[in-house]
Amino acid sequence: MDRGLSSASPPDAVILLVGPSGAGKSTWAAPRFGPHEVLESDAFRAMVADDPDDQSATADAFKLLYAIVRARTRRGLRCVVDATNLTVAARRSLTRLAARAGRPTIAVVFDVSLQRCLRQNSARLDRQVSEAVIRRHHEQLQVAKAALAGEGYLRIVTLTDQDIDAL
Ligand code: GTP
Ligand code: MG
Repeated sequence: MDRGLSSASPPDAVILLVGPSGAGKSTWAAPRFGPHEVLESDAFRAMVADDPDDQSATADAFKLLYAIVRARTRRGLRCVVDATNLTVAARRSLTRLAARAGRPTIAVVFDVSLQRCLRQNSARLDRQVSEAVIRRHHEQLQVAKAALAGEGYLRIVTLTDQDIDAL
């Protein structure tokens, strides 16, 4: 389902990955897009706080991430925003930046099972989040799925457990 998304999506698109922690967003994006195309929120937290887990760095991290989205969209360069993007507010910040530059948006929804997120989270070597956080993310995902259709994306790509296993 996602095959060729990087080549099939407009080169100037802002692509929002939408999914719980542990869903596999970063793993999926890494081989599909160039290193400068992927803007990973954890990497920005690490840049400003020396710690990708430091939630107190979130505001500063996203200020920088948005500044880069602004600069790249002005130039017509693709941005793949690798964050959970589970809230309306988080997505709206990005869709507004894209709209201001006249760029299309694409949502890639990691519609994966709670069990998969929990399993992958507990097998993580880099960092793990609490089960409560993943459960909350998974609930937010169900709300997000219903909202996305009204948010103006050029395309919404949905990846299920089966799709990801088939990749
Ligand atoms: P956050 O950055 O916390 O939002 O999570 P994420 O959605 O980016 O998840 P990530 O890609 O980091 O994957 C979480 C863990 O699951 C990592 O240890 C991955 O190696 C593993 N993982 C990701 N995709 C797959 C998959 O398709 N199969 C298996 N077995 N493991 C996977
Ligand atoms: Mg990630």
